[in-house]
Amino acid sequence: MKSVMRTASLLLALLMAPAWVRAEDPAAKPAGAKVSVPADPPYAAKPKGAVTFNKQIAPIVFANCAACHRAGEVAPFPLLSFRDVQKRDVQVAMVTKDRVMPPWKAEPGYGDFCDARRLTNEQIGLIQQWVDDGSPEGDPKDMPDAPKFTEGWQLGPPDMLLKMPEAYTVVAEGRDVYRCFVIPIPITEDKYVSAVEYRPGNRKVVHHALLFLDSLGQARKKDEADPGPGFASFGGLGFIPTGGLGGWAPGSMPRPMPEGTAKMVKKGSDLVIQVHFHPTGKEESEQSQVGLYFSKEAPKRTLGALTLRSRQMNIAPGDAAYKVKDSTTTTIDMEAVGIIPHAHLLAKDIKCNATLPGGTVQPLIWIKDWDFNWQGSYQYAKPVKLPKGTKIEMEFTYDNSAANPRNPSKPPKRVTWGEQTTDEMAICWVQVMPANESDAFALKLAAGRSVFGGGEGGNLRDIIKDAIKKFDEDGDGKLNEAERAKALEYWRKLREAKTGPDK
Ligand code: HEC
Repeated sequence: MKSVMRTASLLLALLMAPAWVRAEDPAAKPAGAKVSVPADPPYAAKPKGAVTFNKQIAPIVFANCAACHRAGEVAPFPLLSFRDVQKRDVQVAMVTKDRVMPPWKAEPGYGDFCDARRLTNEQIGLIQQWVDDGSPEGDPKDMPDAPKFTEGWQLGPPDMLLKMPEAYTVVAEGRDVYRCFVIPIPITEDKYVSAVEYRPGNRKVVHHALLFLDSLGQARKKDEADPGPGFASFGGLGFIPTGGLGGWAPGSMPRPMPEGTAKMVKKGSDLVIQVHFHPTGKEESEQSQVGLYFSKEAPKRTLGALTLRSRQMNIAPGDAAYKVKDSTTTTIDMEAVGIIPHAHLLAKDIKCNATLPGGTVQPLIWIKDWDFNWQGSYQYAKPVKLPKGTKIEMEFTYDNSAANPRNPSKPPKRVTWGEQTTDEMAICWVQVMPANESDAFALKLAAGRSVFGGGEGGNLRDIIKDAIKKFDEDGDGKLNEAERAKALEYWRKLREAKTGPDK
C-alpha cells in the first residue's frame, strides 16, 4: 500500500496539478440535450416522368457517391454512369432511404462538421421517385460532365514520404485484420508537421487507418516480437503513443491542421500506422504511404486534446443499454476544432455535449448507430467555443444482447475494458486550442491530466496498477527505488512527448 501511495504521489507530482482526480457531480444531467436541427423540408413529389437520371440523379450521384464508387476506391462497384446506377436502382433507392449510403454517422444538428456526407430529404425523394417511375435515362443534353478527381497526393507532393518498409499480405478470407506497422521517421532534428496525408496502396482491402507517433521505441519492440511485417492489434495499440497524426477513412479528405498550429515530431520518433483490413475473398497485398508536410515555423497556436474516457465497464450478457460516462470541466477558455470518439463493436449510441457556464447545452457529437467500421475523425466547420467552466460530458451506450447483430460473442458474454475484439472501450478525444495563446501551458496541463483521469473518479487505482505492472521488474507487486526511477522517467518523457516541453 505504501508503494501504491508513493506511486500515486509520484504521478501527482509529474502531472503538477493538485485536483486531478475528478469527482462526478451526482446532480449532473445525462448528456443528450435537444437542439434545433437545420431545416430539411420533406420531398415534394414531381410530375410523373419529370425525374430523369441525366437531369436530377447524375448530379446527386456524382457529388455524393462517385468519390468512393469508382475504380481503385473503396466501394465494391462504380457509380459513374447511367448503366452503373440503373443496374442497382432498387438497392440504391433502399440504401439512400435508410441513410446507409453515403456513410456518415454524425446526426445533423449535433455538431456542424466539415465534409458532412448527408443527402437532403429532397435528394432522397428524387432517387425514390426516379426508381418508382422506372429509372428513365432522360435527355442526353441534361447529362452533367463526369466528376473530376485529383489523382495522387491531394495536398501536393509531400516534404517527406514514408512507406511501409515491406508489403503486408492480407489473408483472403476470415475475420477482419487489425495490424500496426512501424516506420522510422528519418529526421535529424525535431520537426513541426502541419499536414499529413495517408494513401493506402490497395484501397480494396484497407478499411481505415489511424496514425500515431512513438518516440519511446515501444512499437518497435512489439514489431520485433511479432513475426511478419508489423504487429497485431485491435481497438487499442498495446502501447501508449506519444502523439497522434490523425487518421484515414474512405472518402475522407486530408486537410491541413488548423491555421497556426502544427504537431511537433521528435527526432527519433517512429510513425505507427494502425490499419483495419477487410479480407476481399482473395489474397491482397498492402503497402501504405504517408506524406508529411512540414511547417518552417514553430506553431503560433497550441493544439491539444482533452481525453474523456472510462475503463470502468462491466457489461452483463444480455444488457442492451449499458451506459458509460465521463466528464471534464474546462479550466480556461478553449475552442474545440475536432472530435474523435472510439469504441469497439458493442457501442450503439455515442453522445458528447458541452454545458456552457450559463447552462446552454452545446452538442459536440451524437452518433445513434455507432459502427466500428466507419469510425473517423470529425472536424468542426467552425471552432466551437468552450469558455472556462464548461462541462464536457460523454455518454456511451452499449448493447450486449443477442439481438445486436454486431455482438462478436454468440451467445453474449460478460464484457469489460480491453484491447481485444471482444473487449470494449469508451474514449472521446476533443481536439482543443486555447482561446488565448497565453493559456497554452494551462491547456497542455489540462490535456495531459485528462489522459490519466476519467472513469467517474475511479481510475487512479487503475493507473497505479498499470504503473506497477509495467515497471515491477522483480515481480514483487511493488516498485522499488530503481523501478520507481524508471517509471518517473517514462511518465516524464511520455508527458513531454504528448504536450511538448514545458515552457
Ligand atoms: C465514403 C465512401 C462511400 C460513399 C461516399 C458512398 N459509398 Fe456506397 N459503399 C461504400 C462501401 C465501402 C460499400 C461496401 C459496403 C460497406 O463496406 O459498407 C458500399 C456499398 C454500397 C452499396 C451496396 C450495399 C450493400 O448492402 O451491399 C450501394 C447500393 C451503395 N454503396 C450505394 C451508394 C450510393 C447511392 C451512394 C451515394 C448516395 C454511396 N453509395 C456513397 C462506400 C461509399
